[in-house]
Amino acid sequence: MKFFIDTANLAQIKEANELGILDGVTTNPSLMAKEGIKGEKAVMDHYRTICEMVNGDISAEVISTDFAGIVEEGNKLAAIHPNIVVKVPMIKDGIKAIRYFSEKGIRTNCTLVFSAGQAILAAKAGATYLSPFIGRIDDSNWDGIELISQIAHIYSVQGFKTEILAASIRTPLHIVKCAEAGADVCTCPLDSITGLLKHPLTDIGLAKFLEDAKKTLG
Ligand code: E4P
Repeated sequence: MKFFIDTANLAQIKEANELGILDGVTTNPSLMAKEGIKGEKAVMDHYRTICEMVNGDISAEVISTDFAGIVEEGNKLAAIHPNIVVKVPMIKDGIKAIRYFSEKGIRTNCTLVFSAGQAILAAKAGATYLSPFIGRIDDSNWDGIELISQIAHIYSVQGFKTEILAASIRTPLHIVKCAEAGADVCTCPLDSITGLLKHPLTDIGLAKFLEDAKKTLG
């Protein structure tokens, strides 16, 4: 399973990248706004900076909702760097645009996915990645991990090539469950990634080893 970090914060991207386990970055308009990035040039420059920092796929989201607008924006985003993946919402014109980009060889990430039916449509249109939002599904009292399992089963039975990119991750356990359920990628906040490191028995065991090492080394 690939690991992406789900942020537009450069310090967090740097920290995750230095761990040596990072395969890419996802952003969205809310994450960009959180970093105080304003204006088209600033947005483009920020994506370019991320692409120069991380050697992996970088999702950049369009904000248009009509076919012509999505295509124009997506082409501009894709021209920033070969690693850019154009993130397109799961709407009618989004599906048309994903088909257009797919035929042009531009990679896409179909976002805001909440059902298996949407997953089938995105795969049919040729999406490179599909982003089911498992945390938001859990928030609404449904089972996000169950959706990942269902999509993984459908994609396997049908031979769809679209990669399942589990998004809206809230906890380290979400990451483990997504791996079990067959997600190809997990995009996670930094604290969920570093949360995977933690186990109290590791801390207790290390403290004991270091204490005993002092006896050996004098
Ligand atoms: C990433 O691709 C999604 O936009 C993101 O994971 C959504 O996360 P949230 O539900 O925590 O906003």
